[in-house]
Amino acid sequence: MTDISKSETPNGGYAARLPANHPVALFPPYRTSVKRSPQAAPLSFPTTISEETGPVFGHDILGPLDGDLLANFGPQDQTAIGPRIIVHGRVQDQFGRPVAGALIEVWQANAGGRYRHVKEGYIAPLDPNFGGCGRGITGEDGSYEFRTVMPGPYPWPNGPNDWRPAHIHFSIFGAGFAQRLITQMYFEGDPLINLCPIVKTIHDKAAVERLIAPLDMAHTVPMDARAYRFDITLRGRRQTMFENRMEGL
Ligand SMILES: [Fe+2]
Repeated sequence: MTDISKSETPNGGYAARLPANHPVALFPPYRTSVKRSPQAAPLSFPTTISEETGPVFGHDILGPLDGDLLANFGPQDQTAIGPRIIVHGRVQDQFGRPVAGALIEVWQANAGGRYRHVKEGYIAPLDPNFGGCGRGITGEDGSYEFRTVMPGPYPWPNGPNDWRPAHIHFSIFGAGFAQRLITQMYFEGDPLINLCPIVKTIHDKAAVERLIAPLDMAHTVPMDARAYRFDITLRGRRQTMFENRMEGL
């Protein structure tokens, strides 16, 4: 098991990331990147001890349905509308060692592509049985799993006709608030992935591939739910692309 707060390897070495593989900050086809991208060189702020060791909300108060988006919002005898899927995987360090105790939070649109959010304006209907949020903690082997519905693609006001591919947002918390990583998972075979201006900010094809969960028939539950596998690597050359912290942990 890896201590998530440490970045050193057992022998003191470090498998460095490749900065050249980072997505570009300024990418005009992704319109809001024009205003969001920095105009000046970045400044480095070392994190403080309290930031690194501060408690993470949620580690000890998980409910039994927190990882079951099919059932955690609607009445007890009903489930969410849409194709039932299991999303599972493993959180690991740069050497493939499991990372236990990481809090994973997910949020997503419903099967029609609509979020349950006050600012959501898409015409697709809300599902009364679907809230769109879930969470769980990785086990000793770094594994996690949740049940949900396949999210629908949705249009967004960027270019004249841009659609987000089906995706699930992930947040991964380590031992403290300062160790939060955020990314998005996509689904194997979705033709919208390669058309998405947000995905196109990542120019390393292998990094995009690592965000695409393959269909995992071995984990499928017959007559119930398909399964997709999404492994998350916190740092190193095979690091998952994190949108809030390009360098990983
Ligand atoms: Fe989204």
